Amino acid sequence: MKMRMDYNNMLSCRVSDGITREEFDKLDALIKKANKAMEEKRAAGKMAWRDLPYNQEAVVKEINDYVNEKKDEIDAFVVLGIGGSALGPLAVQQALNHPWWNELPREKRDGYPKLYVLDNVDPERLVYFFETVDPTRCLYNVISKSGSTSETMSQFMIIQQLLEEKLGKDGAKSKIVCTTDAVSGNLITIAKDEGYKYFIIPSAVGGRFSELTPVGLLPAAFCGIDIKGLLVGAAEMDAACKEEDIFKNPAHMYALLHYIGMTKGKNISVVMPYADSLKLISDWYAQLWAESLGKQFDNDGKVVNVGQTPVKALGVTDQHSQVQLYAEGPFDKIIVFLGVDEYRETITIPKTYSDMPSLGFLGGVTHNDLIKTEQAATEYAITKSGRMNMTLTLPKVTSHTLGQLLYFFEVATAYAGELLNIDAFDQPGVEEGKNATYAMFGRPGYEEKKAELDAAPAKDEKYII
Ligand code: PA5
Repeated sequence: MKMRMDYNNMLSCRVSDGITREEFDKLDALIKKANKAMEEKRAAGKMAWRDLPYNQEAVVKEINDYVNEKKDEIDAFVVLGIGGSALGPLAVQQALNHPWWNELPREKRDGYPKLYVLDNVDPERLVYFFETVDPTRCLYNVISKSGSTSETMSQFMIIQQLLEEKLGKDGAKSKIVCTTDAVSGNLITIAKDEGYKYFIIPSAVGGRFSELTPVGLLPAAFCGIDIKGLLVGAAEMDAACKEEDIFKNPAHMYALLHYIGMTKGKNISVVMPYADSLKLISDWYAQLWAESLGKQFDNDGKVVNVGQTPVKALGVTDQHSQVQLYAEGPFDKIIVFLGVDEYRETITIPKTYSDMPSLGFLGGVTHNDLIKTEQAATEYAITKSGRMNMTLTLPKVTSHTLGQLLYFFEVATAYAGELLNIDAFDQPGVEEGKNATYAMFGRPGYEEKKAELDAAPAKDEKYII
């Protein structure tokens, strides 16, 4: 089963300011340069996430063994993480498991625990969470690549204290598992000192490219997901993404189409799945695309302020919310429809009102046909209004095809970074906010930043009404 990409509606023959063959040809040198950079970086170990489909046999076994050892002891598996340490686990769980997984009786979950992902420090969240579950019957997975993210570490400290109060130090130890870098940050030190079980994120794999490491594989395995299948799917996509010829390489082509789009003022990247199961893929993609490509400087130090703003939409729901804007608003978007050929379930609409023309046509039709027809109709309408759009289709949402999709977006993001001549793997804009937070709390080492903040002009009361 292979994912397909249809980019007809990105071309000048289909939409008014679409891409011409000459535009592709003019970029030949840039494409060659980007291909070379991708190869060189991979060979130099700078894209270690590309090796993940191949080098994790022992990791997969360790994860599956650990799941078998622990799953019956717990009611819920709880991820403490944020950004790249939370969005992937959420997206994969939603894609592959029952949408109301946590509400299902345990036997319908094949004996696997519930899953919660606590990815915010809103003070209400933890309090309400503790009212929802027995906190001593959960296994907490503290995930942090850097091992020092304040949000995640603060949650960890709260939960550690609670578990130690209720279960004692040894009891608490059996309820915490860490996923982090082997060397950097505090989490690995804490895990070793406290004797917590831990899994390693390879040091050369950055947060938002880490879903196929234990960051994503451990939570997925705790929910009964075939994690080997995810990696096999990723390897299948890797084969397609090695093609030199961009017309045969889907991820490179996706990046190129968006790159050309950006040169034509398409500064918004909409991903619109027509499947509830893929809804959170848009959230995961939004971080990957935004944090990787939104950059002030290029690799030569020139101010470029590039990037596309990702927008999350859901078909058909957002046809009744955002599609009006897509069809008639500014020509500033590329809309990516994400469809599936075969849904996991079929449901038929009864022929209740066959004598009413406005309802009768629905009688006997399946929701499968309805959602697919609406997707095709929306694609038609968006194309007719001259808006660039394209479609990614999964034959069915399985661990294989999902592995393909995740890996596809990762390669596309890295390749877009090469085309834009920016570093897709750093996030200096995020660091600034983090450093300001540390300074505001008076963290040692951030005195200069504190002085900078103190010197900033105060807000004028007259503009607060
Ligand atoms: O992509 C990134 O590096 C970030 O978005 C991180 O995933 C996020 O900040 C969480 O970082 P960490 O896993 O180090 O706690």
